[in-house]
Amino acid sequence: MAGPARSWHAAAVTTRILGIETSCDETAAAVVDDGHVVRSSVVHSQIALHARWRGVVPEVASRSHTERILPIVAQALADAQTTPDELTAIAVTHRPGMIGCLLVGMAAAKALAWRFGKPLLGVDHVQAHVHTGLLADPAMPLPALSLVASGGHTALWLLTAPGETTRLGTTRDDAAGEALDKGAALLGLPYPGGPSIEAAAASGDRKAFDLPRTLLGADSLDFSFSGLKTALLYTLRPQGAPPRAAPPTGQELADLAASYQEAVVDVLIAKLRRAAERHPVRSLCIGGGVARNLRLRERLAGDPVLRALRLVLPPLALCADNGAMIASLATFAWRQGRVDALDLDAIATPQSGGKAMARG
Ligand code: KG4
Ligand code: ZN
Repeated sequence: MAGPARSWHAAAVTTRILGIETSCDETAAAVVDDGHVVRSSVVHSQIALHARWRGVVPEVASRSHTERILPIVAQALADAQTTPDELTAIAVTHRPGMIGCLLVGMAAAKALAWRFGKPLLGVDHVQAHVHTGLLADPAMPLPALSLVASGGHTALWLLTAPGETTRLGTTRDDAAGEALDKGAALLGLPYPGGPSIEAAAASGDRKAFDLPRTLLGADSLDFSFSGLKTALLYTLRPQGAPPRAAPPTGQELADLAASYQEAVVDVLIAKLRRAAERHPVRSLCIGGGVARNLRLRERLAGDPVLRALRLVLPPLALCADNGAMIASLATFAWRQGRVDALDLDAIATPQSGGKAMARG
């Protein structure tokens, strides 16, 4: 497993890429030099807009992106103290995501690319999360195990070289973030559920409630979180019992949140261990909104098996959706000679692995 650390970013070539991200509920733009020097990163979260629906409303999201994208790009350029002329290329998330949302970022990126005569690069959003470790730590030894856990995706990836990834396992039902969001709704906690469960769990007893850890078959690297959510529902309201008059409060709420969060974290750790034992990886990195969870980070750092790997825990801001990860992955694609045409399509579905930077 050991060996000299090697930087996956070339030293000599200077690239400066503007990355634009609008696939979900963050409007984001960033300027990144050489794939890992974040000169600026501007993110506007729409959480407040969607909170009352407890989920992202596509039409509301795309309208908000439309209003904000140009000022956010201008801010990213100003913060980076650069001009469009100085950019090497313009990168944009073109998949997966809500079509109306993707189209806003793509229209902005295409217009800028055309106006300033810059190459356009389309980036896969999930692959950008998979590669966040290389943005945070350019010398991260490969192959690496990469956990992407967000509201829409939970999957384990093998990152062999920049742009070369294999999906080892994925969720069969709810994503980890979705399980936290739905659990929070059952507990009467605000959206998004991950941070509110994390906050409520702070003073709770993780062992107070016995909730299931679904590991599927002994060899499986897939995830399943829907049974956990149902178990919480029946813990709150045993079958045959009348509905509760009010959601839990005080110590009971803290204990429920802590027990629920621990069940999610336990499953993520167990699957990472399985994958690390089966694949000769040298590093472990995490990305996606759930990777912001401090209990998950604490458990990763303290795990006797996983500790043997180079652990790359990116700054919290790089785990949530952002433009820097888009610009960073695009840098590798650019170095491999890829450029997209201005008729690049928005695609709702993710790629299933393989050549992460190939078109299609
Ligand atoms: O990657 P992301 O910002 O958006 C996408 O879904 O693509 O992830 C959002 C998810 C939500 O489910 C949210 O509850 C969860 O990440 N999340 C967290 C934390 N912060 C956000 N989950 C656990 N702990 C957190 N601190
Ligand atoms: Zn994401």
